[in-house]
Amino acid sequence: KEAKLWGGRFEEGVTDAVERFTESVSYDKQLYKHDIRGSIAHASMLAKQGLISVSDRDSIIEGLGEIEKRIESGEFNWRADREDVHMNIEAALTDLIGEPAKKLHTSRSRNDQVVTDLRLWCRDAIDKILASIKQLQVSLLKLALNNQGLIVPGYTHLQRAQPVLLQHLLLAYVEEIERDAGRLIDCRARMNFCPLGACALAGTGLPIDRFMTSDALGFTAPMRNSIDAVSDRDFLLEFLSANAITAVHLSRLGEEWVLWASEEFGFITPSDSVSTGSSIMPRKKNPDPMELVRGKSARVIGGLVTLLTLCKGLPHAYNRDLQEDKEPVFDSVRTILGMLEVLSEFAMNITFNRERIQKALPAGYLDATTLADYLVKKGVPFRTSHDIAGKSVASCTSKNCQLLDLSLDELRSINPVFDKDVYEFLGVENAIQKFISYGSTGSACVADQLDYWMKKLEIK
Ligand code: ARG
Repeated sequence: KEAKLWGGRFEEGVTDAVERFTESVSYDKQLYKHDIRGSIAHASMLAKQGLISVSDRDSIIEGLGEIEKRIESGEFNWRADREDVHMNIEAALTDLIGEPAKKLHTSRSRNDQVVTDLRLWCRDAIDKILASIKQLQVSLLKLALNNQGLIVPGYTHLQRAQPVLLQHLLLAYVEEIERDAGRLIDCRARMNFCPLGACALAGTGLPIDRFMTSDALGFTAPMRNSIDAVSDRDFLLEFLSANAITAVHLSRLGEEWVLWASEEFGFITPSDSVSTGSSIMPRKKNPDPMELVRGKSARVIGGLVTLLTLCKGLPHAYNRDLQEDKEPVFDSVRTILGMLEVLSEFAMNITFNRERIQKALPAGYLDATTLADYLVKKGVPFRTSHDIAGKSVASCTSKNCQLLDLSLDELRSINPVFDKDVYEFLGVENAIQKFISYGSTGSACVADQLDYWMKKLEIK
């Protein structure tokens, strides 16, 4: 068995069970690129500070380049007995270049190294998620542009409420995920500080330059406090919180499309390319991708809860428990990216069933609130208007008709304030034209929203 890099004081090796239980390389090898990038910055700083020679620096950097190539071509031998990504790379570097590799860990600990790698990794992950959010926004906007003028029932309590333009609803999703993007951008800015050089927890007596490594790695500045630097995982908590909120948004959208694809609603037909079948029921065509968007949001929420629970009892500075921070983060990112991608594809592959939707519109008195607004315009106090419109609806339910089917006499028998211009307010097509408030579903307001997003997302 190979001696451990930390093995100086040990007389016995660890048992196989302990080795299996404590290794993290099986998953933290994903950090290799960022680990190597961090080591190159660190070696360059050590040389500039005279802590290693320029020729040692050069052979370290060259060796790390070679290792990166081997990792990427699949030739690299990841060894569980070398514990984690950091020691795998350092030991492989020693195998490759000998003595100079032994100087790389000068004034560095795995405690600051791992959290530097993670911050770099998360920064890249956030950039990927931001690009995917934008992609979904573009797909939703295109879907809106392809469905000009389509009115759908708007729901509250999942009961028919008021008519809305489909475009208005689609843009609601776009707004929602714009805030998700905003949270990630804020989180990225807050996480972009460099822990490297904090060493185990206390810093070092060697003359390092933390500002140099921070700059080289694209951080805003080195973290001010070395204990905080190795201790803190709130950047992950914030990141996973942002992901969890995004996942909840995506899940709600997925749920809406599952409902809309049902026979009962029948508002959308997903194409075959985004549907799956049943192994027993030959007629089935299921919106599984959307169900899984809903389902996978659970993992993203779970990742956050895992991390919160992991951190809550830890004394300050590094504890080995923190090794458990990575899998939830990797999983959260992989899952969110998958959800965003499949939602975007789904959006590009659904058809709105105009006829079916149109047929569904008359039911549910979607124009009842517009009728109340009409009465307000006639000078009736809103509470009274609400009551009159309610009585009009009641009269319809007993006659089994719509509001616009009531004759003027029938309406006047409810209240004499009704005039024949009331028919300009009834029926969903009329009703939708009456919305004029900022941000409302009126055609002009929705056109403004579309304009805004087309410019922002650079769509012509
Ligand atoms: N694999 C460890 C982790 O992920 C690296 C840091 C280990 N540090 C230590 N002192 N054992 O947290």
